[in-house]
This record gives sequence, C-alpha cells and structure tokens, in this order.
Amino acid sequence: MMKKSPIGIFDSGTGGLTVAKAVKKELPNEDIIYFGDTAHLPYGDKSATTIQSYSIKITNVLLERGCKVILIACNSASAAAYELVKEYVGSKALVLNVIDPVIEILENSYQTKKVGLIGTLQTVNSEVFPSKIKQKSLDVDLASLATPLLVPMIEEGFIHNSISYEIIAQYLGDERFKEIDGLILGCTHYPIIKSDLDEHYQGTVRMIDSAEAVAHSLRNQLEKLNLLNEKEDGEDQFLVSDFTPAFQKAANLFFNREITLERYPLWE
Ligand code: DGL
Repeated sequence: MMKKSPIGIFDSGTGGLTVAKAVKKELPNEDIIYFGDTAHLPYGDKSATTIQSYSIKITNVLLERGCKVILIACNSASAAAYELVKEYVGSKALVLNVIDPVIEILENSYQTKKVGLIGTLQTVNSEVFPSKIKQKSLDVDLASLATPLLVPMIEEGFIHNSISYEIIAQYLGDERFKEIDGLILGCTHYPIIKSDLDEHYQGTVRMIDSAEAVAHSLRNQLEKLNLLNEKEDGEDQFLVSDFTPAFQKAANLFFNREITLERYPLWE
C-alpha cells in the first residue's frame, strides 16, 4: 500500500456516489476508483450469498488496480459481505464498511437513547445493526424498518414533493418511530432525502448519515497508518458493469461535470 494508491469504492449502482462525494469532500487529495455494479442492481432485495459473490468479483477488480482501500459504500453489501471481503483482502488493503462508523456514533452520542433505522430489506433483515449493538453492549433502543420503496422513489426523482412526503409519512408514522432521538440513514440513497426526512420530524430528530461518518472514519484510519495522499496527481476512475443512462446522469450531477465511464463487466 502506498500513499498515492487510489481509494476503491463500490456500490450496487448510483447510490454509493453519495459516499464517493463525501470522501472527495473530506479527502480532496485522494484519487478514487468507483465501481457501480449497474448490471446487478438493486442489491437491497437480493440474498446475502449473491451479494457476496458480486462483492468478491468487484474487490478483485479494485485490488488489481492497486487500491489501498476497499470501501463498501453499499449498506446492503456492508451487511452481507463485509466479513468475507475483509478476510479475502487480508493485508493487501484496508477494508471499510458503512455500518461500523455509525455504530461508533451510537456508542459516543446515543447511549440510553432511542434510535430508528431505515434501510433495504437486506440491511434490515440481516440484523447487522442490532447484533453489533449487542456485541458492544451498547445501551441503545433501536427500532428498525425496511423501507424498500424509498430507493425507486428517489431514483424516479420523487423528492421534495407530495409523493415523497406521503411515502415518508406512511413509513415513519410507524408507532416505534414516533419518539426517536436519531434516525440512521441506513442506505446509500437516503442522504438525498435528508431534508424531506427533516421536514417530517420538523427538525426534532438528528439524521445519522453513514456517508459522512465513513468519510471521517476513513480520514482517521489513513492518518493513523500514514497513508494519506499528499497531493492529487492521478485521475478518478468510474467503472460500471453495464452502461446505463441513469448512472451517467447521476454521476454527472453528483460531480458537476461530464464523467467518463469505463464498462467493466464482471462476467462475460
Ligand atoms: N446501495 C444500496 C444500499 O445502500 C441501495 C440500492 C440497492 O438496493 O442496490 O443498501
């Protein structure tokens, strides 16, 4: 691993761009290689075994390109494949997921509090959050809810309108979500509707954003290992397993420029 090696980030598709953006904001000197598995999205309703096989394939691509970090930006893949990817990578790169930095926030700021978690079916049904909370003996009262309609809603651009407000109200009207102190945005797409969620709770509930949390954690870990890049000299790369207009559009929008995509099919 070298300081100037790139940071590999992967996701099922566009959602992980929220993480890539947070990483570039926190660490502007770093080069990133982003892999969007557009041929296989969504991950959120797939089995753990399937997500694991995609994750290992993508990890191989990122290792071949010399990444010093493999950041699993997708919550569903973090839930299903982190342990496996970590073991697979060994000492070749640092492996990060988007769940542990949130657990750290719970540990530091939400003990004795009530917290809500929304995410895909995979993330919620895996029970990764409650089991990590239990493992660390945290005194956090967690209410979890799978909210599978939110990803397609966001991808359709139904944001800040009557449809998004109504769907959010239906989901979060759930009794267990009435008196929470914080809400874990347990899916890559949810930072995009942060203000809709804020509005639902009229600013009384803190949003726990895993994209920001993992970017902070990445900075700390690279600093400790003396692996921070001193100056940006390379280029960011964007790989997709399938060319889709939706990904191209989202990438351009996120980074405010025309992004060049490289097609990299995982199986031919
Ligand atoms: N990236 C996924 C996640 O964070 C959401 C989209 C999908 O289901 O693929 O869980």
